[in-house]
This record gives sequence, C-alpha cells and structure tokens, in this order.
Amino acid sequence: VTDPAHADAEGPTTVQRRGRVVAPLLLDGLAPEVPFGLVGRLVGPGSDTELRLQLHRIPRPQALDLVHRAEAVAETELASGAGPGATPSELESEVASARELGRQVADRDQDLYRIGIVLAATGTTLRRAERGRSDLVRRLQAHGFRIRRPLYEAATALAAPTFDGAERRPAGYWHTLHTDGAAAFFPFVDEGVAEPGGILVGVLLDDAAPVFVDRWAHGSHSWAFFGATGAGKSFLAALTALRTRWRRPDVDLVFLDPLGEFGRLATALGGAVVDPTAPATGRLNPLDPASTGGDRVEKAARVATFLRALFPTVRDEEAAALDLALESLYAVDREPTFADLVAATAPRPSSERLAVLLDLFVHGSLRHLNGPTTVRWGSGPTAVDLARVAEEHRPFHLAYLLDAVLGRLRDRPGPKLVIVDEAHLLARDPATAAFLDRLVRHARHFGAGLLLLSQNPDDFLGTESGRSLLRNLRATIFLRTPEVSAATRAFFHLTDSEADWLPRARLPREAGYSEALLRLGPSHLPIACVASTPEYEFLRTTMRPVDPGHAG
Ligand SMILES: Nc1ncnc2c1ncn2[C@@H]1O[C@H](COP(=O)(O)OP(=O)(O)OP(=O)(O)O)[C@@H](O)[C@H]1O
Ligand SMILES: [Mg+2]
Repeated sequence: VTDPAHADAEGPTTVQRRGRVVAPLLLDGLAPEVPFGLVGRLVGPGSDTELRLQLHRIPRPQALDLVHRAEAVAETELASGAGPGATPSELESEVASARELGRQVADRDQDLYRIGIVLAATGTTLRRAERGRSDLVRRLQAHGFRIRRPLYEAATALAAPTFDGAERRPAGYWHTLHTDGAAAFFPFVDEGVAEPGGILVGVLLDDAAPVFVDRWAHGSHSWAFFGATGAGKSFLAALTALRTRWRRPDVDLVFLDPLGEFGRLATALGGAVVDPTAPATGRLNPLDPASTGGDRVEKAARVATFLRALFPTVRDEEAAALDLALESLYAVDREPTFADLVAATAPRPSSERLAVLLDLFVHGSLRHLNGPTTVRWGSGPTAVDLARVAEEHRPFHLAYLLDAVLGRLRDRPGPKLVIVDEAHLLARDPATAAFLDRLVRHARHFGAGLLLLSQNPDDFLGTESGRSLLRNLRATIFLRTPEVSAATRAFFHLTDSEADWLPRARLPREAGYSEALLRLGPSHLPIACVASTPEYEFLRTTMRPVDPGHAG
C-alpha cells in the first residue's frame, strides 16, 4: 500500500511499506560457494536489511530427473569441447558434482529445493534505502553473486507467497538448490548436531554441546575413525558399540579384530569369540558360497580376490588358471573345500606353482581351513579374533571373514554394526580395496553399517575404490594425526587451520579423553570424545591391551 505522504520517495525499483522505502534485490547468479551463515552476516540482526526465503521441496523422482539432465548437458558440452565460457576442467568437475549429487539424492542424503530468495534494504527515505542496497550489492558481489535490481517489479518480488510456489516472480527470484545449498542461505548457524535416536559421539570443544548422530538415519550407515596409534580409535569404537547397543538393543554387533582387543568385551556383553585358527571354535570355510546368498559367480570372484591378497606374487596366467578352477568348482551346487579347489586346478604347466601355493590349505599352515563351515553364529555380539593369525595372512583372513560376517548378517532382521579394526590391511591392495568398497555400499541394503578403523586415510586415497569408499561414509572422525597430507586435506576439504590442528589434537593419555574432528556431511566439528565414568570403567576392564608384539 502506497503511503501518499511518501509517494514522491518511491523509485522504479523500490516500494513503500509503513513509512519506509524497501529496496529489494535479486540474485541473478549464485556464488559458486556460499559459506554457512554468510547471509546471516550480511543481513544481521539490527541492520536495515531483510531476507525472505521460500522453500519448496522437489519430489525425489523429479529431482533425480533434473540432476540427470544437468549431468547429461555437462557431459555433452565436455564431449563437444564447447561449453559456454567454461574450461574442460570446469566442465569435468561439473559432471562429477552432478553425478555426486545424483548419488546423494538417490541415497536420500540430499533433496532438491525450489527456493525463492529476495534480499532488501530499507530506509526512511529513498536515498537511505538505495545506499543500504548499494552496500549490500557490493558485499554480495565480493562473494561472487550476480545481482539484479527488479525494475518495475519490486512489488512482485516482495509480494506475499501463495505457499504453492506457483506465483509469478521476477527473473532471479527462483533458484534450484540441494539441501546443503539451501541451508547455506539460512541466516543463522547452529553447529550443534542432535539427530533424534542418535548416539552421543562427543561434545563440541567450543561450547560442550553434545553431538548425537543416528547411523541409520542416513543413506550410508558406515563411518570411519582415523588416527595415530594410541589416539583412541579402538576405544572409541568400543564406546560407539556400547552406546549403539544402548539405543538399539536389537543391534547385531560384530568385531573383526586383528589384534584380539575386543574378545573380552564381546563376552562381557553376552556374546562370543570366534578364532579362525582354533578348530575348537569352529571353521569358517572361505569357499562357502553361503556368504553371497547363493550367488556362485560372485562368490568365485571374491575367492579370487582373497587368494590374490594371500599370494600377491600370482602371475597373470596363474590368475587365469585360478579363475578357471574356481569357475568349474562353483558350477556344481555344493559347498567346496580347498581339497576340491586343488583337484580342480588342472595339471597344466601354468598352474604348477599355483598348486604349490594352494597346498598351504591342504598340508600347510592353513590346513585347518580345508573343510566345510562349522561355526554356528550366536545371537549376541561376536568378536572374530585374528590375533593368532600369521601377520602376512591377515589381509586374507580379514577379507574372507568380512565376507562371511556380512553373509551371516544379510538374512538377519534389524540393524547391524560391523567394526573392522586395522582396515588399512584391506585398503592397500587395489583388489581388496575394491571388495571393501563394494561391501560398504551393499551392506546398507540390509541395514548394516561398517565402522572402519585405520591410522591414515592416505592408505585409502591411493586407489580409486578407496576414494569411492571414503565418499560413501556418512561420518568420518579424525583423531590425532601426526601429519595431514595434502591429498587428505584436499579430499576432505579440510581448512588449513583444521589440518594444522589435527597433529595437536589431545591424546587420551594426556587428557583422559580424545580430541577429534568430526566430519559429518558438510560440517566439520571439533569434538571431545569423552566416556562417562561407568563406561570408562567397563571398557578399561573388558578391553584387552594390545600385545606390543602385534601392534602396527
Ligand atoms: N576417550 C577415551 N577416554 C579415556 N581413555 C581412552 C580414550 N580413548 C582411548 N583411551 C585409552 O588410550 C589408550 C589408547 O587407545 P586405543 O587403543 O583405542 O588407541 P588406537 O587409536 O586404537 O591405537 P592403535 O592404532 O595402536 O590401535 C587405551 O589405553 C585406551 O584405554
Ligand atoms: Mg586400536
């Protein structure tokens, strides 16, 4: 409503409202990166500026369609080498981010929003309002926004919404943004994380606000903890397991335990220990096709991966002979043993050395694995203890046991958590890294999350599957890390101050708790991982200290 007393104060790009001139502006182009809370700093409380946001969530099928079309456009431009003013590397990163967004939308980690944005400066006179608007324009441009003053459209820009998002607005009003992008426009920042039903992960170093995260509320249920030896990874994993059980008593817990630290904890929680080197606790036959739910082709491929982890010197022609032997082995519908595999390995010159290697399972140190599976899994927490496995056999054992464990979990109802300590044992070899990456992605289809513990993310960054795996983790916790490589900084988007802080994060033996950086989606939160006294007492008496001979 125009106030006659101020009619002469109104210009072609402003409106009058209750005695004040309102000078809106629209964002013709969004900045490539909008830091969280930026708009809040530009349009602060007490200033003469205002921000209006209108959000409409785009239904998922339509959102996926939009993202796929954006990806196709960028791909076509990349292929034709003729983007409108974009370099090939810009186009490549556009394709990659469209693909990443597509994955996140499909995983329900992100939604797409149709978002209406209008900013306005106000003043008692036209001059004051215009001055405020120029100021706002300058600051927005400095952050990379393209600005538009709505000529003869100020009233349309500022009109009340119709709540269906269908009303007419000037160009530059509507935008399409994903959840994080939309959140970045909210004029306030609340760094606290309190996911309902989540477990306490730590308290913010800033203000001691507790951080609760619900593993099962996200597309990926898997997390990783990284940190130097003694930084507190195993302890935090055990604490996470305890707290998870407390929130979800039905959770199925398995520890894949290369150093034998979790056995007593599993027993104390009413569970059991499986030792693959001790016939008394039963055998898990690495060749048992039950782990892939009867998919024998997939099983043959996995066995080839495990065996190559065990025999890294296998040559191409030997690998081919092994593949043939496995193919014939799994063509018959029964559970094969290693004796069967040796028999299936054709007596050809190319498989002579292979037969010698495989003899390890018939007459050598792994002969206890030659036979059908006899382990009967209980229902309580289970620790699979690898402490007595020869060091050079650990990657092999970890790989087939992980396969067996996930096979066991596939058919069980309810949530599952599998803790894999010393996960670098699988990350360094590209074949087992690819296997681990696939398991992380498949596990969520039956409600299972993996928690990977490892000293250095660089072990994972070295292979494409390692990087894919890291991208598929919902939460990553960095405990004290002596050196943060440039690759780690770049991959996790760590700021310089975060990367400089990690080597100084306090250790449990210094502080009585561990300091860490929690990376949760786009948030990076410095936290303290603190156990309550009863939790600490319980874990101190149930976690076996690592035998120094095994550490490393
Ligand atoms: N949050 C904590 N509060 C109290 N004590 C802790 C905490 N975290 C770890 N500790 C103690 O610090 C010691 C080292 O922790 P932990 O064994 O978990 O380290 P790690 O990162 O797993 O090391 P490694 O790489 O050698 O396996 C243990 O004695 C453990 O009890
Ligand atoms: Mg440990």
